[in-house]
Amino acid sequence: MAEKPLILLTHSLPADWIGDRLMDCLILIGRDDSRGIDADLLTDLPQIEGILSLLDDPLPAEILHQAVKLRVISNLAVGVDNIDVPYCTRRGIAVGHTPGVLTDGTADLTLALILGVCRMIPQASRDAREGRWSSWDPTGWLGVDLKGATVGIVGMGKIGRAVAARLKAFGTRLVFCNRSLLPGQELALGATQINLDELLQISDIVCLHVPLTPDTTNLIDSASFKIMKPGAVLINAARGAVVNTGDLQKALETGQIRAAGLDVTEPEPLPADHPLYQLENCLITPHIGSATLNTRQTMTRIAIDNLRAGLEGNQLPFCVNPEVFS
Ligand code: GLV
Repeated sequence: MAEKPLILLTHSLPADWIGDRLMDCLILIGRDDSRGIDADLLTDLPQIEGILSLLDDPLPAEILHQAVKLRVISNLAVGVDNIDVPYCTRRGIAVGHTPGVLTDGTADLTLALILGVCRMIPQASRDAREGRWSSWDPTGWLGVDLKGATVGIVGMGKIGRAVAARLKAFGTRLVFCNRSLLPGQELALGATQINLDELLQISDIVCLHVPLTPDTTNLIDSASFKIMKPGAVLINAARGAVVNTGDLQKALETGQIRAAGLDVTEPEPLPADHPLYQLENCLITPHIGSATLNTRQTMTRIAIDNLRAGLEGNQLPFCVNPEVFS
């Protein structure tokens, strides 16, 4: 790199996670209380050559077209649904992401949501703390068993498989659906591939692990809740918009399904006065699937590798549009 390129970190990151790896760049840091590129940064956009973005920073074509020198966007996430990737590809802007390293963390959190919902842990913990633990109550806080439950995994990618491997140890029966036929490894987990409708009809627990695309937006809606078992639990650790929020709210309010565990919501963040928070049968965490120190530090390292490679005109180690280099 001859002159120091101007790069934008849309959000500050701990200095010791970055180290001296961006010393040869001029760094602009976005406001931590705003998302994406706000008005303060617009005048700098034409000079920016690289962006390190977060998963909730919208980067649509209308913004990006002002960044005439932009060569690389490195998203600190595996999902890139916040970025207009087809536009970037047309412009030759490389888009990087951080797959793999957050698989185990997200799978662990998925299990935490399943166990939290199935064993009513938030309600039981709150009741104990608030003085409602007056005796060992034979009929209190009754959950559902995982052993023998049918779990349907929607999307058998890396995270779906890691969730399946964990659930196998609990003695669940595993079924899954996936956009392509997957004969291999899944059979070793004892998981059977079926179609989505069938999966929704027979699963006691439905876990979503698909990326957000036009095909998966509102994949789970009122029609899905109609065919799910009344005792079913829905777990979403993928993207909020895979589920229609209004339809989910109704299904939970009317007992059409038993409960939901959500690490992602639509909108995100979910406003503090949102009715979903009022529902006893809805456990919500603030998109913390990858939130372990080790995972977030590794994601940062990979995101910086991607950013540097893009600035130097090299193929990114993890690129969603590698065709920009051909
Ligand atoms: C998390 O949701 C990610 O896409 O990294």
